Amino acid sequence: MKFFIDTANLKQIKEMQELGIIDGVTTNPTLLSREGVDPIEQLKKICETVDGPVSAEVIGLKTEEMVKEARELVKIAPNIVIKIPMTKEGIKAVKILEAENIRTNVTLVFSQNQVLIAAKAGASYISPFIGRLMDNGQNEIDMLWESMEILNAYDFKSELIVASVRNTRHVVEAAKLGAHIATIPFSVLEKMFVHPNTEKGLEAFLRDWKKLKGQLNR
Ligand code: G3P
Repeated sequence: MKFFIDTANLKQIKEMQELGIIDGVTTNPTLLSREGVDPIEQLKKICETVDGPVSAEVIGLKTEEMVKEARELVKIAPNIVIKIPMTKEGIKAVKILEAENIRTNVTLVFSQNQVLIAAKAGASYISPFIGRLMDNGQNEIDMLWESMEILNAYDFKSELIVASVRNTRHVVEAAKLGAHIATIPFSVLEKMFVHPNTEKGLEAFLRDWKKLKGQLNR
């Protein structure tokens, strides 16, 4: 299973990159706007930091606009992947771009039917937003299971990126169902490292070791 980090913050990317657990990055206009810097320059820096795929989203709503933007965005670096919204215009853009060997990531996906359409269009990646489904009171885990079932039932090349991850349980669920990728916010990645018993256990080991040393030195 691959881990992407869902952020446009370089410090966060570098910190997780140093731990050796990051295979790629996903950004979106909201995440880039939070950084308050030139988005193209920021994407350049992110691509220099991470070898794996870095998703950058188009803003246009018409197919021609998306295709034009995508052709510009891929000039940033060879590892740029183009995020395209799950609309009819977007799906047309996916077909055109994938035929040009420009990798696409269909975003704002909320249903199994949308997964199927994006897969048929030949998207390299498909990103269901499970946290937002959960916010709507829908069963986000069932949606993921059925989406993976659909992808596995045929010879689709698309990889599923579990996106809009809100908690560590979401990552476990994504792993259980064999999702190819989860794109995880920094705060959730941090929590994945932690368990109170690890800290307590380590304290006890060090305390006992010190005690033994004290006894031997007496
Ligand atoms: O990768 C998708 C993600 O950026 C959306 O997450 O938390 O805004 O629903 P969120």
